[in-house]
Amino acid sequence: MATSSQRKALIARAVQAKSRAYAPYSRFRVGAALLADDGTIIEGCNVENSSYSLTICAERNAVFQAALKGKTRIRAIAIASDDPEFLPPCGACRQVLSEFNPSMEIILTTVDGRTRLTSLSRLFPMPADLKKLARPRPVKRK
Ligand code: THU
Repeated sequence: MATSSQRKALIARAVQAKSRAYAPYSRFRVGAALLADDGTIIEGCNVENSSYSLTICAERNAVFQAALKGKTRIRAIAIASDDPEFLPPCGACRQVLSEFNPSMEIILTTVDGRTRLTSLSRLFPMPADLKKLARPRPVKRK
């Protein structure tokens, strides 16, 4: 659980990260800020590409930045866009977020300053989790 001052800081940092969005095609800017277990905040923004499908969402960008910094326990994430409606993370981002805490707190925001608190376990109750599967042994090559 994040404290209320941590939540405020996450929202401010997500809004800040949004200003770094590279979104010349959709013109839809998104910013995200993660709270790692040690209290560090790590940001991400969406980065689009001429080959549209190579675009990365703000949430996944933030998770990858966190991994690079060695932060693989995530307590919460805030997401900001320029939309008057809440922007919940897409399915791909939900799966990626779940790798680092399937029940993290999710703080959704609107451009006019409304916030809504939810959780990944609520938005994505049954993630694929290899750690929970009985994996077959690798096939030996000759
Ligand atoms: N986008 C995000 O960054 N996060 C979301 O949760 C949904 C969508 C980005 C991808 C693309 O650059 C733009 O928003 C429009 O879909």
